[in-house]
Amino acid sequence: MGQKTVLITGATGGIGFETAADLAGRGYSVLLHGRNAEKAEAAADRIRERHAGSEIRTVIADLSQLADIRRMADEVLDTTPRLDVLVNNAGIWNSHQELTEEGVEKTFAVNHLAYFLLSHLLLDPLRAAPQGRIICVASDSHKQIKGMFFDNLNLDGNYHGLRSYAQSKLANVLFCYEYERRRPSEDYPAIYAVQPGLVQTDIGLKGNTWLHRLAWRVRRQMSGHKTPAEGASTSIYLATEPAVQEHSGLYWDNSKPKDSYSSSYDKDEARILWETSLEMVGIKQFF
Ligand SMILES: NC(=O)c1ccc[n+]([C@@H]2O[C@H](COP(=O)([O-])OP(=O)(O)OC[C@H]3O[C@@H](n4cnc5c(N)ncnc54)[C@H](OP(=O)(O)O)[C@@H]3O)[C@@H](O)[C@H]2O)c1
Repeated sequence: MGQKTVLITGATGGIGFETAADLAGRGYSVLLHGRNAEKAEAAADRIRERHAGSEIRTVIADLSQLADIRRMADEVLDTTPRLDVLVNNAGIWNSHQELTEEGVEKTFAVNHLAYFLLSHLLLDPLRAAPQGRIICVASDSHKQIKGMFFDNLNLDGNYHGLRSYAQSKLANVLFCYEYERRRPSEDYPAIYAVQPGLVQTDIGLKGNTWLHRLAWRVRRQMSGHKTPAEGASTSIYLATEPAVQEHSGLYWDNSKPKDSYSSSYDKDEARILWETSLEMVGIKQFF
């Protein structure tokens, strides 16, 4: 079968880094994604120190910019005819509403649109793998809202970090379920949404208000939180376990499928999100 290749987005730290390090240790060829080249190379070096001889290449893109996602995908298509696993992991939590160059609220852009577009752009190399897989790191935070704010996805005048994050994570689960409904055949990659748990990472400490940073710091000290390595375990399980190929389109926690919250099963919401996402990223057909 040869060496397997995995691309992990947001692998410069936190859950993504531990996912990349573990898979490198298991002999996967790792495409380690970051938005900052220096930071990505430093992360790759840390993995090489942990696992001598591991095969790692960095790929760089700001996932809030559609053009940059496309440029990175072209680079992957040029160099990687077969991609076994795509781990859509990069994510943000923003205190303040920020807009991308396309005028899209940044949390929605990075946490959902990038997952959607990259999965589409990399379908060919994923289909070339015997058991191609797309893993979307979502969150139980999707339970914090009752549905998508389709009339105002940017949350203009209604912005809160918790709300925008919850909306983006609900989008991850809706995307996973709708992908499975539309998947033309089993020749297309399987897909999984993952709840990593409450994990001690820096996600809430970047560029947020001091009050939110304090809240995230306190949260990190609370008992019951996982280390980043523990938080990576379900993504690693789904990347490596042969038996899960036939369980595509489910929500996973602690390496087991579980029910997500009721709003994520709304088929109309999933269809509207799919059509809206196609339009927002500028593609006509996903498959
Ligand atoms: N931590 C938790 O408790 C928890 C719970 C549930 C779900 N999750 C999910 O787990 C995933 C990983 O989060 P984490 O907790 O490990 O956070 P993290 O340590 O902050 O890692 C996030 C990664 O995403 C990258 N990233 C952020 N914005 C980006 C952009 N515009 N373009 C490209 N890359 C970007 C970051 O790059 P930089 O290093 O440059 O910032 C970093 O590599 C996220 O999807 C998050 O929603 C986390």
